[in-house]
Amino acid sequence: MGMTKVVALYSDKVMDHFTNPRNVGEIPDADGIGKVGNPQCGDVMWLYIKVDNNIITDIKFKTFGCGAAIATSSMITEIAKGKTLEEAKKISRGDVADALDGLPPVKMHCSNLAADALLEAIKDYETKHKT
Ligand code: FES
Repeated sequence: MGMTKVVALYSDKVMDHFTNPRNVGEIPDADGIGKVGNPQCGDVMWLYIKVDNNIITDIKFKTFGCGAAIATSSMITEIAKGKTLEEAKKISRGDVADALDGLPPVKMHCSNLAADALLEAIKDYETKHKT
């Protein structure tokens, strides 16, 4: 059970996004915030979006979670940025896993966190901007 065995479970893309995550942080004046906890492990993620003209113009995340959760969070921010809210809502956990060249089956539940947090942030935005 050395490091090499653990690393070998993950694709190069997962390792890249885990070691160099994109869009990490917080947006203080976010238009929508999603917070999701993973009941299976207790990990938590916050996701912040800025919306302009129905388009996600900025997106950042903070994840207290495992490597797979960090990698999927990072990847989903790259996929969602520049998309319309309708397009962003359709991003599934499977899309994120595919974009990362797959996740080990035991880690698929970790990718739920990112997709759910994005949905929550969009819902939060829509609730706040109902006319
Ligand atoms: Fe908790 Fe992966 S083990 S999100």
